[in-house]
Amino acid sequence: MHTEHNISLQPFHFFASEELASYFTVLHKNEDVSDAIEWCHQQNLPFLILGSGSNVVFTKNFPGLVAKMEINGIKKLNESATEVILEVGAGENWHHFVSYCVQKGWGGLENLSLIPGTVGASPIQNIGAYGVEVQECIQQVTAFDTTTQQWIQLSNKECNFGYRTSLFKVAVKRYIITHVQFVLQKQPQLKMDYGAIRDMLHEKGIKHPNLESLSQAIIQIRTQKLPDPKILGNAGSFFKNPIVSKTQLEQLQQQFPNIIAYPISDDSYKIAAGWLIEACGWKGMKKGNVGCYEKQALVIVSYGIRSGREVYEFSEEIIHSVAQKFKIQLEREVNIY
Ligand code: EPU
Repeated sequence: MHTEHNISLQPFHFFASEELASYFTVLHKNEDVSDAIEWCHQQNLPFLILGSGSNVVFTKNFPGLVAKMEINGIKKLNESATEVILEVGAGENWHHFVSYCVQKGWGGLENLSLIPGTVGASPIQNIGAYGVEVQECIQQVTAFDTTTQQWIQLSNKECNFGYRTSLFKVAVKRYIITHVQFVLQKQPQLKMDYGAIRDMLHEKGIKHPNLESLSQAIIQIRTQKLPDPKILGNAGSFFKNPIVSKTQLEQLQQQFPNIIAYPISDDSYKIAAGWLIEACGWKGMKKGNVGCYEKQALVIVSYGIRSGREVYEFSEEIIHSVAQKFKIQLEREVNIY
């Protein structure tokens, strides 16, 4: 295994702060994964798997091995008249994979167009946007279990998916995902319930959308609302949308009649964290080298930070002020190291 010593993590994550990894390696194949874990055990060092670094904040140097996942490839396992089953390497770029499916006419993931990150990271926090979550298309996940040192295959059910969570997010660091199997539809049902999608299709004069035009509409919505990480470092939504009970929501509505919430079950509602943060006056605010994005308050942006600590402290302030005003404890959606 080839490792490098004291490597700057700056090129490997979207916030591009300057923390170091004591050791760094790249994973190209399954054996590299088991070798890297064995090496860490022998050296008694912690490890961290990095995809494209689109959802991480480093607040200090990493005192172990950072392993960049680059197991690639898209393989067709099966095809019927209605479905296609693909096995995709964890290191594949998420948006490239979605675009590939859209081009082939295989539906299911088009609403997740332009989400940053890698295929292997997608099940971890069950990425979602515009009425679709990746769990809807995942059949199986292949992973190395670092506790038992065994390769395992987990069915969709075994992955325990929830809103921005899964078994992989809960059992932190136990599993290293190397491949994901997706089931895609050859006669897809397009999902266009979101007002933003309907508005965009209308604006573009598209009356009969298909996979391609729907994907293009989503790309345009995201480009308008979310900052380009190449220009302003960011990790997408920094916080999760908090979930409250009906009673809690009713109490909040008495004091804040404009609060934005969506039902997710009979007794639970998802509150728009972006609205809460905006209502606390953060939207567009800049402090030092960090800011709350002017078009979407759920996104924290870097104006050239050197340490991720600055982002972390800024997010603490947001959490504190939302808690004071609304008695709601925001949870971070990004991974903090
Ligand atoms: N809102 C505000 N102020 C803001 C931002 C949003 O009032 O500054 C309101 C909007 O007007 C809207 C509501 O909040 O009524 C929801 O906003 P939006 O549709 O932008 O979605 P979101 O809940 O903020 C979630 C995901 C995004 C995903 C979008 C679209 C989470 C944590 N985030 O954001 O995912 O793209 O829905 O489906 O669930 C990500 O995870 O990185 C991400 C970008």
